[in-house]
Amino acid sequence: MYDMIVVVAKCACGYSVNATSASAFSVFTDLLETDFLHVYNLSGDIGWQRQEYNVTPQVARGTYGKKAELRNVVANPLNSSYDYAGSGALGGDPGLQLWVRGDSSDGMVGMGEIVAIRTDMLYGSFRVGMKMTAIPGTCGAFFWFRNDTQEIDMEFLSAQFNATSNPVSLVLQSPASEAAGYNAQGTPNFQLHPLPFSPDKEYHEYRFDWLADRVSFYADGQWLADMSASIPNSPGHLVLNHWSNGDKYWSAGPPQSDAVLTVSYVKAYFNSSTPARQLQYNAACPAGQNSLAQVCQVPDQSVAPNPAGRDGNTTAHTYFFTQHKDMTVNQTVYAAGTAAV
Ligand SMILES: *[C@@H]1O[C@H](CO)[C@@H](O)[C@H](O)[C@H]1NC(C)=O
Ligand SMILES: *[C@@H]1O[C@H](CO)[C@@H](O)[C@H](O)[C@H]1NC(C)=O
Ligand SMILES: *[C@@H]1O[C@H](CO)[C@@H](O)[C@H](O)[C@H]1NC(C)=O
Ligand SMILES: *[C@@H]1O[C@H](CO)[C@@H](O)[C@H](O)[C@H]1NC(C)=O
Ligand SMILES: *[C@@H]1O[C@H](CO)[C@@H](O)[C@H](O)[C@H]1NC(C)=O
Ligand SMILES: *[C@@H]1O[C@H](CO)[C@@H](O)[C@H](O)[C@H]1NC(C)=O
Repeated sequence: MYDMIVVVAKCACGYSVNATSASAFSVFTDLLETDFLHVYNLSGDIGWQRQEYNVTPQVARGTYGKKAELRNVVANPLNSSYDYAGSGALGGDPGLQLWVRGDSSDGMVGMGEIVAIRTDMLYGSFRVGMKMTAIPGTCGAFFWFRNDTQEIDMEFLSAQFNATSNPVSLVLQSPASEAAGYNAQGTPNFQLHPLPFSPDKEYHEYRFDWLADRVSFYADGQWLADMSASIPNSPGHLVLNHWSNGDKYWSAGPPQSDAVLTVSYVKAYFNSSTPARQLQYNAACPAGQNSLAQVCQVPDQSVAPNPAGRDGNTTAHTYFFTQHKDMTVNQTVYAAGTAAV
């Protein structure tokens, strides 16, 4: 007697934004998901690298220089992989901490930055769960980057937050912004967009969908804006950082005390520019988008995923394909970045 175990691979034809039966949807072949509520070792196999560099005030385009330091990127995970709510191991809001330091007496502001290892992201849906600092004088940024003229940003300036104003800056860096001295304000690719909540009070999901003809921005699944001029067309990577340079027209600051931005997850569903990966996808999914049954829909996040809130264990327990082995066949999965329970 013997048992036959048949593992049916799902999602062989990729991951879709919107159901494939909807009037508009997009399919992406690859994914990168990181559950920062359960990342215990930032040097482990998580798919991200902490950054370390110094730039002068002139290069930082502010009155202060910037120093990205490893100590400003800190893991503060939940103790149990079963929990999605509660305090982090170090106390306070759980997740990945990106610090901006309050002591800038040497003319440099300590900041935190982490970049995704994969540099082959060409179109996709990119999402972050995060809570911004309430301390004025910093810029928190979630962005896709190729170079100074191909960049997609969602940026949060803590000096702009107050009881009645909670904006996010939506930015595409383009040849026009380069010509304006790296200032996208005043180009069609800049919007200071109000949010219906306070980014510094709870975690929320921020998202941009980058397609060949437009970029659409969202917050907690609610559409904010589309941009369609100078859309990037070449591969790049994802970055998360939190910084200040004293520029009174942008980050303002530096902050009076240490300020933290906390990230609960990043999820990216994207097409790979790597020929090897494209061949592998075409072999696994020979009928392409005609075999829509093998496309898995990415769930929309329509409530704030807030591990610090009352229903945190429910709202912050968001969906990860990487917690299901049969849904990530052929994908690069970073084991230490995913709480597979
Ligand atoms: C998903 O559907 C919404 C609502 O119809 C639409 O606005 C959006 O553009 C669609 N997204 C994609 C990637 O097709
Ligand atoms: C991503 O690649 C797949 C496979 O080549 C293709 O079917 C799909 O249309 C691409 N998606 C976008 C948004 O370009
Ligand atoms: C973190 O991961 C690195 C790389 O795998 C390993 O060398 C190190 O021992 C780990 N640290 C801890 C505390 O587990
Ligand atoms: C959160 O929910 C999981 C089940 O999804 C449960 O195992 C865990 O004990 C819960 N944690 C808290 C803090 O309620
Ligand atoms: C950015 O990358 C694009 C595509 O490779 C290229 O055409 C453009 O010249 C680059 N811009 C800069 C400032 O290097
Ligand atoms: C909040 O900020 C907005 C925009 O900077 C400003 O117009 C408004 O006066 C501020 N409100 C309060 C209560 O400080």
